[in-house]
Amino acid sequence: LLHEYEHYMLKEICDQPKALEDTLAGRLKPEGVQLPELEAVWTTEALKNLRKIDIVASGTSNHAGIIGKKAFEQLLGLPVEVTYSSEFIHEHAALDDRTLVILLSQSGETADTLSALREAKKWGCPTLAITNTAGSTISRKADSTLLTKAGPELAVASTKAYTSQIAAMLLLSVWMAQKLELGDVEKRQELLDALARLPRDVDSTLIMTQDAIDQFAQLIDDQEHLFLIGRGLDYVLALEGALKMQEVAYIHADAYAAGEMKHGTMALITPGVPVIALATQGHVFDKTVSNIKEVKARDAFVVGITRVGDDLLAEEADEVMYIPDTHPLLMPILAAIPLQLLAYYSGKVRGHDVDRPRNLAKSLTVE
Ligand code: M6R
Repeated sequence: LLHEYEHYMLKEICDQPKALEDTLAGRLKPEGVQLPELEAVWTTEALKNLRKIDIVASGTSNHAGIIGKKAFEQLLGLPVEVTYSSEFIHEHAALDDRTLVILLSQSGETADTLSALREAKKWGCPTLAITNTAGSTISRKADSTLLTKAGPELAVASTKAYTSQIAAMLLLSVWMAQKLELGDVEKRQELLDALARLPRDVDSTLIMTQDAIDQFAQLIDDQEHLFLIGRGLDYVLALEGALKMQEVAYIHADAYAAGEMKHGTMALITPGVPVIALATQGHVFDKTVSNIKEVKARDAFVVGITRVGDDLLAEEADEVMYIPDTHPLLMPILAAIPLQLLAYYSGKVRGHDVDRPRNLAKSLTVE
């Protein structure tokens, strides 16, 4: 199964063009998105009844959920909350039969998310599972299921499941908007065109970043702290990058909204400390560059990740890695690739068991 790869994690990172292609296949059509598996439950009438969406998930799936939130809000104009499953079980805002609860789980077996599903059902909420495992418990118990088709994910760290979950939520949000005839058709089409290019763009991202990330991992192999900063969707992705570094490289990595550094965290920036600055969102690019200047002024070692063509970063950061430019909602999928690779190469250079990190399990079937 591993073929030419040394570890499952690296194989699964490199599998992402195919995982995304399979998740989009048969669903992304020239005339729009088709999700026949949801038609029976999600009639236009049922969709019109919705007033709110709650996305509930754990760990990396929760981070994918926050990206999904932005898509649902932008395309449907509905309020969306994202909650950790382990928190949702105890505390949540008002729930009723007009609140769609989406359970995101790669394995479909996570005990916290399964309990959250039970809680949602108790309140009469319609439920929809997005999972990578057909026939899993969460999928069987939810009212409807949308499958990601990433193929089996064996490394404990979730990589291809994360990017496939984001793609599935984008498909779902476009499909709902189509059925409800919401929003600007041209804008929807731009997103669909970008989704069609996505597997190729992910492939290019792998080629553009893999060697540079391998070298960077070696450069920071004695560091114990890492900061990831960004604004908007870049901040959401920073959360996921930090989790990966903790999980696989055992580095104390933390994500910060770039504009918040000056409100406290800047005190932790000391000379040479590595900072990864994500700057892939056009509308906040200039502000992120200002935040990079602030950490550079404290002599941090800054690696910027940005879109091809955003050359301004090269003047401010110590190193810049370029990734293809695409629709803003898809940038977190592309920018996830170098962060996953950094966790992998950092774990490897530190001699960790990258496929089975200490104290963790792939499927968490206890709360
Ligand atoms: O199978 P699930 O998506 O429900 O798993 C949720 C988390 O346990 C999982 O994403 C975990 O955070 C990963 N190991 C992170 O890489």
